[in-house]
Parts: sequence; C-alpha cells; structure tokens
Amino acid sequence: MTTEEIINTKNEAIAQILKARSTSEVEELRIVYLGRNGKLTQLIKRLKELPSDKRKQVGILINEAKINLTGLLSSQKNRLSETVKQWFDPTIPGKKPKPGHLHLITQAISEISRTFEQIGFSRVRYPEVEWDWFAFGGLNMPKDHPARDEWETFFVEGPNHPKFGQMVLTPHTSSGQLREMQRVKTPPIRMINIAKCYRRQIDASHIPMFHQFEGLVIDKEISIVYLKGTLDFFAKNFFGDKRKTRLRPFHFQFTEPSFEVDITCGVCNGSGCKLCKGGWLELGGAGMVHPTVLKNGGLNPDIYSGFAFGWGVERTYMMKSGLSIPDIRLLYSSDLRFLKQF
Ligand code: DAH
Repeated sequence: MTTEEIINTKNEAIAQILKARSTSEVEELRIVYLGRNGKLTQLIKRLKELPSDKRKQVGILINEAKINLTGLLSSQKNRLSETVKQWFDPTIPGKKPKPGHLHLITQAISEISRTFEQIGFSRVRYPEVEWDWFAFGGLNMPKDHPARDEWETFFVEGPNHPKFGQMVLTPHTSSGQLREMQRVKTPPIRMINIAKCYRRQIDASHIPMFHQFEGLVIDKEISIVYLKGTLDFFAKNFFGDKRKTRLRPFHFQFTEPSFEVDITCGVCNGSGCKLCKGGWLELGGAGMVHPTVLKNGGLNPDIYSGFAFGWGVERTYMMKSGLSIPDIRLLYSSDLRFLKQF
C-alpha cells in the first residue's frame, strides 16, 4: 500500500461526491468508500500489513482522508436536501396537463351528423360484421352478380345464416338502409348512418378501414327534388355558402335512377383549375331507392318512395376547402405531429 493509493482513492471519492445529484446518490457513495467493504475501509484493514515504522504515518494519512470524506458526505447531503426543500413550494399552482382533442375524423363525423340533424335526420349505427343479404343480396345484388366486384369485400369465417348468407365486414353503409326500414316499419324515415366500412384496398386514397355516411329518406311522395334540396343544404353548410352540387347520371343496383353527386371545386369556385380540371369534384353516390329494395325492407313501393346517398367521411372531409392531405393513410398513422395540426 502506497501513500499514492490513499491520495488517489480520496481524490476519486471527492470528485464523485461533488458530482452527486441526490441524497441517495451521496449515500451510495458513502457505502462505496466508507462502508464495511468500502474502498477506504479496505485500505484501513491493510494497515496491519505495514512495518510498524510506516504504519503510524500512513495511518494518519488514511484517518485524515476518512475525516475529509465523512465531512464532505454530510455537507453534500445537507446541501442536496436543502435544494429539494427550496424547490418544493406548495403554494405555487400546479402545472395543468395540456388538453388533447378529438381525432380529425371524429370531429368530421360530429360535424356531419350535426348538419343533418338540423334538418330532422337521426343518427343511427348498424353492425360492422353484417350478413351478406344486408350488404348485397337485399340491395338488389344477388349472389354472383358482377356489380359486387366494386366492393372488395372481407368475408368472415363462420356459420352461414340460413336466410341472410355469409358474414362480411360491411363494405358500405348502405346495409343500414334495410336495417332501418325493418326497424322503423312505418315511414317517415330520415336516417343518417355513419359507420366504419371495410374493403381490401390500400393506397394514397384508399384504406382498408374507412368511414361512410349514408342518408336515407322514405315517405309518401318523396321525389328527386328532396334529394337535390338535401344535398344542397349539406354542401352549403359543410363546405360553404358558395358551393353548388350537381347530379350526374350513374348506375347502382339499389337505386333507380342513380347519380354521382359532384360539388363545385373550392379552389376555383367552379371555373376549372389544375386540381379539378372541369370545375367539379366528385362527392359520392346517390339515387332514388329501388322498388325491390323497398320491398326487401318490408315497405310497399306503391305507397312509399325515397332517396339515399352514401359518401366517404375521409374523402368528403379532405375536400373541405383549405385542407389538402396528400395521403389518406396519414389519418390513421397515429403520428401526433400530423394529428396535432387539426
Ligand atoms: N354504397 C355505395 C358505395 O359504397 C354508395 C351509394 C350509392 C350509396 C348510391 C347510396 C346510393 O345510398 O344511393 O359505393
């Protein structure tokens, strides 16, 4: 054992004690150096190995080191517990956690349902795991009908229903039409069904789980005029006063006649620009409910008529002026840097 060893151990201990950030760190260091098997304690134990003439001199040195370290440890401990006391002031008001907000699509859904509720629609929701008949068969698309190819459907393994067939993940909210007719039984019906839909497709504008909102109005003497009026009301309320809609002939199995609904572009106001080309943007499908669908829903098509429309929530919201989201998948990426912006 050399005097150098003692001085080095002491200096090492001092440096570490001065660096300590908490009283428990100081206590740990006390054990490392002065505990029963501590570094300095080991040196004290080895004193007896020394020849007696050296023992006294080295003994004094070790003892000084011990006194120094003990003093430093206790002053460090006091200083650190003092800082804790000064830091903790119970009279300062607490820090409130930052409030979050609802997801962009949840906001869109409540905005859409609020808009339709103003003109007497009631929000409903139907199963996401649905029987084939409600999604296809009852909507005038019998088994093996080529129109079904448009809906890239997820089929669910499980027993078939004797009347309603296979289980599917709802590929569109139109399945809610038959459910609503069967529930209400005697019109008027004014439903807005907003729900999750599933299709086997993914790219910048498609995602396997998305949302649609489906309107259905059935009563006596409901004509296309009511459809046009409802769509105009929605367009002006949701997109802004200046926006106009138009119906473009199309084909769906469950409506006759059927339309695609377009809205004037928010960037150029309908005069034509790079985004929309001809001044119009496509919103989604609509039409007058097919007599067979009314019958399948248990209603007499000689007494009742109605209209329906079904659009994507994500798509519609992305078309709202001012919002340009390049990839629909961003909505569900759970990336707060993106979500915080809305
Ligand atoms: N269900 C159709 C789709 O997912 C959209 C649709 C078209 C709904 C016409 C309707 C309608 O109610 O009348 O593509």
